[in-house]
Amino acid sequence: MTDLTVIVLAAGGGTRMKSKTMKVLHPIAGRSMIGHVLAAAKAVSPTRIVAVVGHQREQVGAHIQQIDPEIVLAVQETQEGTGHAVRVAMESVGSVSGTVLVITGDTPLLEGSSLRAFLAAHHDSDRAMTILSGVVQDPTGYGRIIRDAGGEGVRAIVEERECTPEQAAVKEINSGILAFEAGFLAEALPRLAPHAHKAEYYLTDTVALACADGRAVGAVPIDDWRQTEGANDRAELAELAKEKNARILRHWMAEGVTVMDPATTWIDVDVSLAPDVTILPGVQLLGATSVAEDAVIGPDTTLKDCEVGAGARVVRTHGELAVIAEGATVGPWSYLRPGTSLGRDGKIGAFVETKNAQIGEGSKVPHLSYVGDAEIGVGSNIGAGTIFANYDGVEKHHSVIGDHVRTGSDNVFVAPVNIGDGAVTGAGSIIRRNVPPGALAVSGSPQRHFDGWVFRRRAGSAAAAAAQAALDADPGLGHAQPGETES
Ligand code: UD1
Ligand code: CA
Repeated sequence: MTDLTVIVLAAGGGTRMKSKTMKVLHPIAGRSMIGHVLAAAKAVSPTRIVAVVGHQREQVGAHIQQIDPEIVLAVQETQEGTGHAVRVAMESVGSVSGTVLVITGDTPLLEGSSLRAFLAAHHDSDRAMTILSGVVQDPTGYGRIIRDAGGEGVRAIVEERECTPEQAAVKEINSGILAFEAGFLAEALPRLAPHAHKAEYYLTDTVALACADGRAVGAVPIDDWRQTEGANDRAELAELAKEKNARILRHWMAEGVTVMDPATTWIDVDVSLAPDVTILPGVQLLGATSVAEDAVIGPDTTLKDCEVGAGARVVRTHGELAVIAEGATVGPWSYLRPGTSLGRDGKIGAFVETKNAQIGEGSKVPHLSYVGDAEIGVGSNIGAGTIFANYDGVEKHHSVIGDHVRTGSDNVFVAPVNIGDGAVTGAGSIIRRNVPPGALAVSGSPQRHFDGWVFRRRAGSAAAAAAQAALDADPGLGHAQPGETES
């Protein structure tokens, strides 16, 4: 194994993003742009990675260290060009041998496999350097690759502003990804001269230096040029994000996932999906979400860092850090907050919000409820419109519902409270005290009637007329339930 150093250039400002966040930190598919680049760099198993930071170096440096604390940070105090940036990187690691691969930090579509193939092409030669080039329709803005007469070797890279008209017409361009023989690079960098235009040192001038030394320089065009494209503004960022997403979706479809509408489906790079998962339109699967086989997600669902079991069904749901077991059903219109876990074959239904709630196997919370800081056993059913009142205004409290419990509609469980196994609660109950196993708990005062109230207090109203008509038709109705008289 030869020594391999990867230098990632990320000191530039990225002012066209018009953002307080540095360009390379903007996310695409659940990872920062530089996060994607570093993942590609790691895939070639380098001896070391050196990241050159400058603008907002605290922000960028901290982010890089978080991704991998072993990455060496080289600080370029002033941005004096790509040649200067690489020199700063080389100086920060002392003497290096083998190969140096230079890449830029803002190319989120870059794949490790492409870098590996490029390095193999470089190693197969005895060139001083190899350029990853591209042949494109519109070369505007890029350095042009000027090949020698035979077309095998490369004589120079000429930046657009310094091109002759013939050079400007060349369609083979420099991607900014370059492989060097370390010894050549180390002795070439101090020989670079600043360019008049911006007083910058161009890394690309190493080509002419190699040629002057009689060393060979090659360029290997990449078929998939988009892998080398960066984003300079928000519009380009959106374009790259869309392309990255399309690639992720193609990957999962090839792995046996059905994606009904790729145009409205967004999947982050760290998501994992099993074969025969079905994704309906309007779905975002984010973070480290995983979905097991035969599960159906969507339409209109966002899941972030969720785990969905085999055969589960999740419809019009927003979930974060939630676990949905095999065969369970969620939605439509459910909100699963962190710490939710729904057991096998369980159900969280329409207009239900859950947080830090463990719902056991086969248990159901079907309608219009809030379940917070609670544990529900197996085979229990929570009545429609139930609130777990977990917060007393100062502290959160935890409640436990046992196994095979049936709670009535419109209950309030004032935490902390325990409902024993097999217990039942009546509709409209406010449960403040523990209910023993097997008991029926009811709360609230008995229902009272005040006979004829509407005739006295709402005389002349439509209600009074309707009541009068009903009593005229069947006078017995007025005495069907015992009533009271107002005092
Ligand atoms: C560079 C190349 C050009 C190539 C193009 C591909 C040179 C002189 N030109 O041009 O041939 O076609 O990239 O995108 O190399 N950076 C630093 N420190 C600096 C200057 C730049 O870290 O002092 C970093 C930037 O953050 C960026 C990368 O180097 O990630 C390239 O810099 P940029 O200014 O975009 O170079 P270009 O002019 O586009
Ligand atoms: Ca650029």
